[in-house]
Amino acid sequence: MKKFRITIILASLLCLASLCMTGCGGESQQAESDSVDLQAAVDSIQLPDGFKPEIGIVLGSGLGGLADEVDVAGRISYSEIPGFPRSTVEGHKGEYVFGYLEGVPVILMNGRVHYYEGYSMEEVVAPDRIMALLGAKTVILTNASGSLNPDFPPGTLVCIKDQIASFVPSPLIGPNDENLGERFVDMSEPYDKDLRKLLHKAAKEEGIALEDGVFLQVTGPQFESKAEAELYASLGADTVSMSTACETLALRHMGVKCLGISCVTNFCPNCADENVNHDDVQEAADRLGADMIRLVKGTLRQMSK
Ligand code: HPA
Repeated sequence: MKKFRITIILASLLCLASLCMTGCGGESQQAESDSVDLQAAVDSIQLPDGFKPEIGIVLGSGLGGLADEVDVAGRISYSEIPGFPRSTVEGHKGEYVFGYLEGVPVILMNGRVHYYEGYSMEEVVAPDRIMALLGAKTVILTNASGSLNPDFPPGTLVCIKDQIASFVPSPLIGPNDENLGERFVDMSEPYDKDLRKLLHKAAKEEGIALEDGVFLQVTGPQFESKAEAELYASLGADTVSMSTACETLALRHMGVKCLGISCVTNFCPNCADENVNHDDVQEAADRLGADMIRLVKGTLRQMSK
């Protein structure tokens, strides 16, 4: 009986100890992975000699080919940057490419991380913020998206004229870092009007059809139900994806000018009965990649005029 009681006491103590350890360990791990030391990340990145980036370009699905068009001056893998989040999604690389595109010094963000991968919003927007801290005053964001608008079939390229970020947590929640930007950010024009005009000029010159649309971000990873797609369309959204709007929020917080291009890879279920899957989205994005590349290059030429 005595032996039995001692065993129970020992087992309880062990349980308590292991609870304590997992509790404490879990918390500190969370704290570490939840906050990115932006300055440490920036300090670890050595820009090529004399290279002063002006424009950041976020390569969404299908736009990876742009990296081959750049006169490369240097590159760094995300894995070499301390505390940096890494994409777990197939088809998403993880590196910055530094170089010249149409003679303009650019940083390509080749690969992003998503909220649905389990990263905090702070982590999700860290790669964008670092481009800004490295000197980019303008960022072009691209994505593959689902269409909520029957007039925007798969294959449509859309200049994002406004966004709805109300369905994802804001990356600006939490203590505000005044060194990055103000507490309350004006979002009356997330995507720069003049840049949008230049994008349209480039599209015209390249003979590429370009629509204007409102973009909506969801957390994912699931695609929309019919009722959800109908809801988003009723709110005025034309395209939807699992990235971008939160990045634009963080960049606008830092005073960076943004331009967004959404490439429609599929209809959402309010417009068509077909099922959506990731492989189809990836394939459609790859097909649209060439037009997207011409659009981005054309816009850079317009910006240099
Ligand atoms: N929904 C959400 N995100 C997407 C979609 C979609 O239909 N297509 C590509 N990204």
